[in-house]
Amino acid sequence: MRTTAPTAQPAGPRTATRTYRIAVIPGDGTGPEVIREGTKVLAAAASRAGFRVEWRPYDLGGARYLKTNDTLPDSVLKELREVDAIYLGAIGHPDVKPGILEHGILLKLRFALDQYINLRPVKLYPGVWTPLKDKGPEHIDFVVVRENTEGLYVGAGGFSKRGTPDEVALQTSINTRRGVERCVRFAFDYTRKRAKRKKLTFCGKTNVLTYAHDLWERVFYEVAKEYTDVQTDYTHVDACCMWMVKNPEWFDVIVTDNMFGDIITDLGAMIQGGMGIAAGGNLNPQGVSMFEPIGGSAPKYTGQNAINPLAAICAGSMMLEQLGETKAAAAIEQAVMQVTGTKLKSLAAGQMGYSTSEVGDLVVKALNEKSI
Ligand code: IPM
Ligand code: MN
Repeated sequence: MRTTAPTAQPAGPRTATRTYRIAVIPGDGTGPEVIREGTKVLAAAASRAGFRVEWRPYDLGGARYLKTNDTLPDSVLKELREVDAIYLGAIGHPDVKPGILEHGILLKLRFALDQYINLRPVKLYPGVWTPLKDKGPEHIDFVVVRENTEGLYVGAGGFSKRGTPDEVALQTSINTRRGVERCVRFAFDYTRKRAKRKKLTFCGKTNVLTYAHDLWERVFYEVAKEYTDVQTDYTHVDACCMWMVKNPEWFDVIVTDNMFGDIITDLGAMIQGGMGIAAGGNLNPQGVSMFEPIGGSAPKYTGQNAINPLAAICAGSMMLEQLGETKAAAAIEQAVMQVTGTKLKSLAAGQMGYSTSEVGDLVVKALNEKSI
């Protein structure tokens, strides 16, 4: 349980005693480089806003696995239950078989800490190139609320007669009334608080997933009755991909299941300018949440001071928002927008016109000019 400011409440009186214990997992590849810039920006925000951060570093990741053969020991998990938030760089190592670190660290943390929401803003910042023709920041600004602990990610299934011509493989999507309802409720609350267009779209596949998404649909419209100020909408997931490209301005908040959320948020990341800027939060509104840039470990760029740290910096801003440091969170986002709008040539690694650490410095400089 957290012991400091709860979610989404205004920051309390500005005393120097507000201290947040943040577990930092830089992880693999370019993770450490982008997290270094993120912590630099967060430290600057802390000193401006008058709170303190107690960093607790953890070496989880591929290098540790190759040395010790463990991914996330119980003793570490126990310590992570006691922090105020987790700041994660990237997980994924070229010498480790795909799946081991994803399951052993990232998914294990999401499930063990019951981070049942994956919140992924899709926002085109000023000066950022989008592959969508004739679309600008005024068209691309929505948030995907992805269910994060159920569906196809539960790992329910099995093989029969594996490796034979009669093989059968099952992978079952688990959708519980409780799990769907808490996600849908979060999405309605979030849409209301965001107060942009107050429109929540359920993205599903009700014409094919006639059990799983029947439950989702019933829950969605039942909960909607309690939120008469929020407009509801529905789109099939395939059409959702189409509209995200053709008319992204139609969306305000989208709520969807784990697998569909995984897929549409990669599309979302591309229309907001790519993995260099896309951030996400794995939220347990009653517990410990974890924030991460959603791009991978980018082994190709590791150690070159060339990768874009803005996604990690934006994840840091989301973390402050969750901790209740809303002004500092907004100031970081404003600073990032200033840097994309006036400085960077591109968001792509090696093409920014600045190094990774210089981009971090630019954000700190812009932040120091903002009032917090
Ligand atoms: C993501 C990633 C993960 C997921 C992988 C690495 C397991 O793609 O955070 O979107 O599928 O959730
Ligand atoms: Mn993904």
